[in-house]
Amino acid sequence: MKKESRFRIYTDKDADLRFLKEKIIAIVGYGNQGRAQSLNLRDSGLDIIIGLPQKSESKRKAQKDGFKVYSTEQAVKSGDLISVLAPDHLHSKIYQKQIKPYLCPGKTLLFASGFSVHFKLVDPPDFVDVVMVAPHAPGTVTRELFLQGKGVPCFFAVKQDITGEAKRKALAYAKGIGCTKAGAFETTFEHEAIGDLFGEQAVLCGGLSELIRAGFEVLVQAGLPPENAYLECVHQLDHIVNTIKAHGIAGMFDRISQTAEFGSYLSGKKVITPKTKLQMEKVLRQIQDGTFVKRWKRECQRGLKTYLRMKREAKEHPIEKAGKRIRRLLK
Ligand SMILES: NC(=O)c1ccc[n+]([C@@H]2O[C@H](COP(=O)([O-])OP(=O)(O)OC[C@H]3O[C@@H](n4cnc5c(N)ncnc54)[C@H](OP(=O)(O)O)[C@@H]3O)[C@@H](O)[C@H]2O)c1
Repeated sequence: MKKESRFRIYTDKDADLRFLKEKIIAIVGYGNQGRAQSLNLRDSGLDIIIGLPQKSESKRKAQKDGFKVYSTEQAVKSGDLISVLAPDHLHSKIYQKQIKPYLCPGKTLLFASGFSVHFKLVDPPDFVDVVMVAPHAPGTVTRELFLQGKGVPCFFAVKQDITGEAKRKALAYAKGIGCTKAGAFETTFEHEAIGDLFGEQAVLCGGLSELIRAGFEVLVQAGLPPENAYLECVHQLDHIVNTIKAHGIAGMFDRISQTAEFGSYLSGKKVITPKTKLQMEKVLRQIQDGTFVKRWKRECQRGLKTYLRMKREAKEHPIEKAGKRIRRLLK
């Protein structure tokens, strides 16, 4: 382990909504994050408009929710703070054509991840504030918890502070969407972008799904019925993860049987070996040096062929059928 870095956590008392009062917040995109953040910000008393393409499928939903919907260009022109909540892989195109030409001094650009700024898919001019507020949950959860008077944590960062108020605006925005109720962690665009990609690829989504599938395949090859293998390798995951979140990994071990605990100490390290860690380091290097982003850009330019093939293969894996049957049975 190298040096330990500490980051500060900001809560409601550190954030003041006044820094966004009497300002127009233009939300670009009304999907997973766009809808939840718009609703939360409006409920916090802020002035929201939505920017969407003319033929957007999200337009009707935003209008039904009572928002004024404009073209992306018009929303950027009218907005004091432009919150870019369109999908990351479209940022470059949307930014060049529909955002950049309409920016002027005094405006703030806000991103919900460090991805496109850190990897230079967008190049904000030197006369706008550039900040990030990245909630640590899907939009639906951000909205649900807000309605319960709670919030999800977020990362926030300032990349460019021209007005001297960038940090206060980012914190006000985090408060407006409910995140300072749980805690806003100060970070950098780089750390958020790298950490987010690595976490999802190596551990949370990529690593975990391969671990689950491998375990399932081994049990099925050994003759166990797929449903049985599914129950053993998937069904209790949420319980284990919630216990780890609440009590730590060591605390989780305190709460399972001693047989399970002893076996885990012995076998876990046989499955995740020093070689696995070397592979993880390679994944991290390829994220840091831009290899992954280059690959993803090429994939998008070529019509997502490989992505769609891999998606189809994932859907066709036998674990999906077993899962469906178990979910039906346990309804
Ligand atoms: N999803 C998460 O859990 C999560 C968590 C934290 C941060 N984030 C970040 O939040 C941002 C948004 O992600 P998301 O998952 O919310 O995306 P998403 O659900 O895919 O939302 C896409 C929205 O962008 C709209 N859009 C597409 N092109 C547009 C354009 N030219 N102008 C304006 N709007 C346009 C889409 O409209 P149509 O309906 O017409 O397609 C749709 O409303 C990303 O930066 C992501 O990294 C996401």
